[in-house]
Amino acid sequence: MALKTNIAQLNLYLQRQASSHSRYALEQILYLLMSWIPSIVGITIRALFYRLILKMDGWVAIENGVRLRFADHIRLGHGAYLDKGTYLHACPNGIDIGPNTIVMYGALLHVYNFRELPHSHIHIGRDCLIGEYTVIRGQGGVDIGDRVYSSPFVQIIAVNHVFDDRERPFVDQGITAEGIIIEDDVWLGSGSIITDGVRIGQGSVVAAGAVVTHDVAPYTVVGGVPARLIREIGVNNDQVEDKIIYMAKTSF
Ligand SMILES: CC(C)(COP(=O)(O)OP(=O)(O)OC[C@H]1O[C@@H](n2cnc3c(N)ncnc32)[C@H](O)[C@@H]1OP(=O)(O)O)[C@@H](O)C(=O)NCCC(=O)NCCS
Repeated sequence: MALKTNIAQLNLYLQRQASSHSRYALEQILYLLMSWIPSIVGITIRALFYRLILKMDGWVAIENGVRLRFADHIRLGHGAYLDKGTYLHACPNGIDIGPNTIVMYGALLHVYNFRELPHSHIHIGRDCLIGEYTVIRGQGGVDIGDRVYSSPFVQIIAVNHVFDDRERPFVDQGITAEGIIIEDDVWLGSGSIITDGVRIGQGSVVAAGAVVTHDVAPYTVVGGVPARLIREIGVNNDQVEDKIIYMAKTSF
C-alpha cells in the first residue's frame, strides 16, 4: 500500500515537471550537462542546445542556474535574456517571452495550471524588463504588452481562492482565474501587486507598494492600498522638476 502511494506521488511529481516522462528525462539530462556552465561559454552552449527542448526564435541568452519546467511550452523571442536564478514553469498553455525582453535575477514565472484551465498562460511582449524577484502567476492568463517594465518584487497574480463557505476549508472551494492584462508602455513600481481581473491601461504608472484591485485608465499614475488615482499623465504637468534626467544609451 505504502509502495503504491509512493509511486502515485512520484508520478504526480513527474506530471508537474514535464509534458511526459521521456520529456522529463531529456530536459533533465540537458540541464545536468549544461545548465551550470558559467560565462559566455555557457550562454553559447545553451543557445545552441536548449532549442532541442524549447522554442527559440533566433538567439537568446540564458545564464547558468536558470530553472525551466515544461520547456516544450516555453517560447523565447530573438534577443531575450534570462538572468541567473530565474524560474519558468510553463505547464499548459505556456510562457511566451517576446524579442529583446529581459528577465532579471530571481524572477519567477509560473503558469501554475494544475486544474486544466483552458486559458492559463503568460505572454510577455517585446522590449520588456521583468525586474528582480518579480512573481507572475498565470492561472487566469497574464498578457503583458510591449516595453512594460516591472520593478523589483512586483507580483502579478491572476488567481484568487474562493472562501465564502464557512463550512468548508477554502482549499475545497476552488479558485477563480479571470486574467490580467497590462497594456504597452506601463511601468510597475517596486513591490506593487496586481490582483486578478485587472486591466492596466497603456502608458500608465503604478507607484511603489500599490495594490491594484481595479482597472487602471491609460496614462494615469495610481498608488496606495488599494490603488487610487494620483494624477493623469500629460495633464497640468507643467511643474517640470529641477532634476537631472539620464537617457538610455541606444547604440554602442
Ligand atoms: C509614483 C512615483 C513614480 C511618483 O510619481 P509622481 O507623479 O511624480 O508623484 P509625486 O511624487 O509628485 O507625488 C504625487 C502624490 O502621490 C503620492 N505618492 C507618490 N508615490 C507614492 C507611492 N509609492 N504610494 C502612494 N502614494 C505615493 C505623493 O505622496 C503625493 O501625494 P500628495 O500630493 O498627497 O503629497 C514614485 O513615487 C514611485 O512610486 N516610484 C517608483 C520607484 C520604483 O519603484 N523604482 C524602481 C525603478 S526600477
